[in-house]
Amino acid sequence: LDPETFNNILLEQVRDGVYLLTINRPKVLNALNAQTLEEMNNAVSTVTADKGARVLLITGSGEKAFVAGADIAHMSNLSPLEGKAFAEHGMHLFRRLETLGIPVVALVNGYALGGGCELAMSCDFILASDNAKFGQPEVNLGVTPGFGGTQRLTRLVGTSMAMELLVTGRNMSAEEAMQRGLVNHVYPQPQLLEEGLKLASMIAGKSGTAIQLTKELVQRGQDLDLDNACIMESDLFGLSFSTPDRAEGMAAFLESRKPNFG
Ligand code: CAA
Repeated sequence: LDPETFNNILLEQVRDGVYLLTINRPKVLNALNAQTLEEMNNAVSTVTADKGARVLLITGSGEKAFVAGADIAHMSNLSPLEGKAFAEHGMHLFRRLETLGIPVVALVNGYALGGGCELAMSCDFILASDNAKFGQPEVNLGVTPGFGGTQRLTRLVGTSMAMELLVTGRNMSAEEAMQRGLVNHVYPQPQLLEEGLKLASMIAGKSGTAIQLTKELVQRGQDLDLDNACIMESDLFGLSFSTPDRAEGMAAFLESRKPNFG
């Protein structure tokens, strides 16, 4: 992909079907300003336009930060209405990641504070390096979180722990974030990308349509009561029977061979 397209991010297809988006403003610890959000949005469009895309990995450039938050210099000049528009910009992008038809995995390689923690929480799951730090320090700036932090953190770690983190603004280590269910795995920093790629390759070999429908069930089901969520599951289970992947997956099992989902 042409690196000229972006100034603040990098987008590479690192393996068949596996894309890596790197937020690339290391001088400001990869802080998110409006242009970076816009470039990320365009990158997501590039990935979705590729029907062979299977996984999107998101990381930060350098060894210190994933994303140290929304860009405070950028926000310091915004009016209340501009602040709201900036929050909506981030919210829209993060919701898009959450509802994308492929898994999005955060490789958190350092600070994930404020908007960085919110970005990581909008991914399907998080792999972290051992030096990663998570937190919502907005109380120190006299503002609330604006990219979904109060909502997603509460859903992920529960109300009382989310409240503690939100009102103290304290950082959590990678280890603590894993204990609290925010992070799936912690790796030594130099191994994080390699582990992320290994996992992405494994996912890329599975049925893309089954994964797409599964993600939709998990995401949409959370807002439904159990009866309706289970109805949705039987509907999409039935729908999956119409796909070539179902024919291939079941035939391969019955013929004792590995499926080739193409
Ligand atoms: N926005 C803009 N610039 C930032 C930034 C941010 N969020 N975080 C770091 N930077 C800049 C610093 O200003 C500094 O720039 P200069 O070299 O030009 O001075 C550079 O990145 C390096 O940072 P530090 O010198 O501060 O590095 P450190 O190792 O001493 O501290 C840190 C690291 C603890 C992460 C500290 O940088 C920090 O506290 N950053 C801000 C974290 C924060 O408050 N994030 C929440 C933002 S609000 C938000 O995200 C709202 C929302 O929900 C939408």
